[in-house]
Amino acid sequence: MIVTNVAIFASGTGTNAAKIIDYFKDSNTIKIVLLVSNKADSGVLTIAKNNLIPTLIIEKENFLNGDGYLPFLKHLHIHFLVLAGFLWKVPQILIQAYPKKIINIHPSLLPKYGGKGMYGANIHQAVIDNKEIKSGITIHFVNEEFDEGEHLLQATVEIEKNETAESLAHKIHRLEHFHFSRIIEWVVCKTK
Ligand code: GRF
Repeated sequence: MIVTNVAIFASGTGTNAAKIIDYFKDSNTIKIVLLVSNKADSGVLTIAKNNLIPTLIIEKENFLNGDGYLPFLKHLHIHFLVLAGFLWKVPQILIQAYPKKIINIHPSLLPKYGGKGMYGANIHQAVIDNKEIKSGITIHFVNEEFDEGEHLLQATVEIEKNETAESLAHKIHRLEHFHFSRIIEWVVCKTK
């Protein structure tokens, strides 16, 4: 059985990372071997530590304009990168090293509400303000442009009458938690 080593990049509370770690904890084919974060105080680091997953705190200049920590990722035999709440643009050096092996989750139906500055509550508030009738999630490959890589899955939720950015965020999170690990599993197996 060939095991694919995966690194999760996350800098928020890490609810998606927690689901992914849990989903693959007994897997024979996918192993979460590293949690990368750009915030030394992010909640996701605690989740990683509680699950005995090594962590790496990255520094902006080296990530964006240096080697992107590529030698370190290669040293750990990491084959696949998952972005789960990671806001920095992925540098060219990593995209070239991991072609179609980096995936991201975005809490809107891209291309709507994507691009720089579109994250978290900003998205959900904009969706409500624009009186959209639905929103959702997009899981996609990462390429050189923010939120523009090939889509792997979109799933939708209805916007109800008295929907708030907060209630929508909750619905979107539930959708993310259900789909993300399954799509990771599918893509990793497909591209092995
Ligand atoms: C998710 O909504 C994801 O779509 C976005 O960042 C958020 C991370 O949430 N890319 P969490 O930290 O996993 O709760």
